[in-house]
Amino acid sequence: MTRRVSFGSDNHSGVHPRVMEAIARANEGHVHAYGDDPWTAEAIGHLRSVLGDDIDVAFTFNGTGANVVTLATICRPWESVICAETAHINVDECAAPERIAGVKLVPVATPDGKLTPELVRPHLTGFGFQHHAQPRVISVSQASEYGTVYTVGELRALADLAHAHGMLLHVDGARFANAVAHLGCTPAAMLEDGGVDALSFGGTKNGMLLGEAVVLIHGAPADTLAFVRKQCGQLASKMRFVAAQFSAMLADGLWLETAAHANAMAARIAEGVQTLGVEVTQPVQANEVFALLPADRTPQLAERFGFYTWDTARGEVRLVTSWDTQPEDVDALVAAVREIIS
Ligand SMILES: Cc1ncc(COP(=O)(O)O)c(C=O)c1O
Repeated sequence: MTRRVSFGSDNHSGVHPRVMEAIARANEGHVHAYGDDPWTAEAIGHLRSVLGDDIDVAFTFNGTGANVVTLATICRPWESVICAETAHINVDECAAPERIAGVKLVPVATPDGKLTPELVRPHLTGFGFQHHAQPRVISVSQASEYGTVYTVGELRALADLAHAHGMLLHVDGARFANAVAHLGCTPAAMLEDGGVDALSFGGTKNGMLLGEAVVLIHGAPADTLAFVRKQCGQLASKMRFVAAQFSAMLADGLWLETAAHANAMAARIAEGVQTLGVEVTQPVQANEVFALLPADRTPQLAERFGFYTWDTARGEVRLVTSWDTQPEDVDALVAAVREIIS
């Protein structure tokens, strides 16, 4: 089969060879199921050394599962979650947070996918009023769905606001690695200094076959986590194969290498198309590029390179890079863009 390049999603890429090898290595003999095995203990150890010791961890199959399990664990059914209008939990999870976690989502319009205290504050109302859902969580995506990244200070400002109201800060980190690679900080510092209480830690988009992790920090209510995950259908029986992938990614920094590479490929796209006079509509800080292309000539290009139109009215497209995107792939894309705009 010939290699087909897609800029449609970081889920379009395959699995990193070292992750595949780790899965094969874990395929040895019999061990206990449901996470009671040495591979799972090892992977949790790696997560603790990367994210900080004082965390509770539960692996899940996918990102929607990680978000739903997190919200169902830290919220009660009368509580609400404030998020960006563009948040994955709001637009791409088929109302699973509402149906399964039983929370009310409060979507907030943002120019760049990022919440700010100013945008959130008007929604912090009705505390103690029995007719209103009670605000419980501010949820941000790091990196955001627009490929923008919160600085640690921006996270801290949201965390301080949340904590001042007895609320928690949740980070949907399906692209957490891309954000860490962009900021160049340590992940533990982002969580600690950013005041984060709960993290959905991504693996799949960054080169794993499947697997994400719910991470609850500093004792954010963790006593029900295992039960909630099981009820949500996110408890893998053969957990060692999820865990072995995390160890392969985390043990020697592979997860940041793959993310930094994807980020660099996005920067290469942005630079290439901007040189042609194409408008890039969002700061390129992670592995996504949003750009305006002539709508009538885009479909052919989209067919060849697999990307999606984000905003039809504006002719805005979304280009996503992966751990295995090659510079030649980017150069072929930029050359094709040159053809349609010349
Ligand atoms: C911000 C964000 N969160 C979570 C997810 C995970 O979704 P899935 O349930 O498809 O793994 C995605 C995937 O597109 C995402 O972009």
